[in-house]
Amino acid sequence: MDLLTAIHQRRSHRGDFESKPICQKHLDQLIEAARWAPSPFNVQPWKLLIILDVESKNTIADLTQSAITEQLKDARFLDDNSRWVRLSDEEWMDKKDGILLSDHLKLPPPFERNLTRAKPILKNAGLLSFLGHMKAGRIPAKEISDQIRNSPILILIVMDYQRRPPGDGSQRWMWLGMGAMIQNLLLTAAALEIGVQFVSAPIERAEDRKTLGEVFNMPPSCEIISLLRVGYAKQINQKSVRLDPSEFVCYESF
Ligand SMILES: Cc1cc2nc3c(=O)[nH]c(=O)nc-3n(C[C@H](O)[C@H](O)[C@H](O)COP(=O)(O)O)c2cc1C
Repeated sequence: MDLLTAIHQRRSHRGDFESKPICQKHLDQLIEAARWAPSPFNVQPWKLLIILDVESKNTIADLTQSAITEQLKDARFLDDNSRWVRLSDEEWMDKKDGILLSDHLKLPPPFERNLTRAKPILKNAGLLSFLGHMKAGRIPAKEISDQIRNSPILILIVMDYQRRPPGDGSQRWMWLGMGAMIQNLLLTAAALEIGVQFVSAPIERAEDRKTLGEVFNMPPSCEIISLLRVGYAKQINQKSVRLDPSEFVCYESF
């Protein structure tokens, strides 16, 4: 697959994976792609923890379940998210940004059909936290955590401050290098028809990152940056939206 095709075809995979493991050749190709990413002063500040062990996946799945359950009780979290939540394909295509709610939450059919009518509610999404307190968040939390449990591989991505480049902005440059490395990995996965999903919920809270660091014996110089779930996709999702170039490209002056 050529590079531009991989760029266009890469999608966040939120569905289930085939149960078969990722073959070693493909895993090596993902690692090789990550390895050749650019970084400031070529410091290569990354470490990848490849997680195959069932117990370890269960630990992360349990953390995810409790993180999502708590998030859905949090009025500030819901308000903050609502700005980027799109309720229908039409709204999503029109705005050309944000996430489609039904890609993230499986809603019962009556809710799904009437979703666009819920738009005014989203303006005060924090009010929905009462549903979270009534334990409504347990269903999506369980679904997502089961997907983590059933993923062939999880990759915990960390940044090592022992490999810090010089300069006052060193942390910023390291972050950029991490992003480039992750993108190398994502594009290679797309080319190999491997699905990847960022799973941010279990690493959003400092206490969860601390727990994960302890569980996996992470060196103290490292910081958790991202978590990916990886596997052969059952179905390839093609849908996404982007702004037009005219909405983010300027020539000569902003
Ligand atoms: C740093 C970062 C964190 C993300 N976290 C999540 C996440 O927790 N769950 C998820 O389903 N997608 C997550 N995504 C994927 C984005 O939602 C996705 O890239 C965006 O909606 C565009 O869709 P596409 O990747 O399919 O083109 C994340 C992406 C990035 C770069």
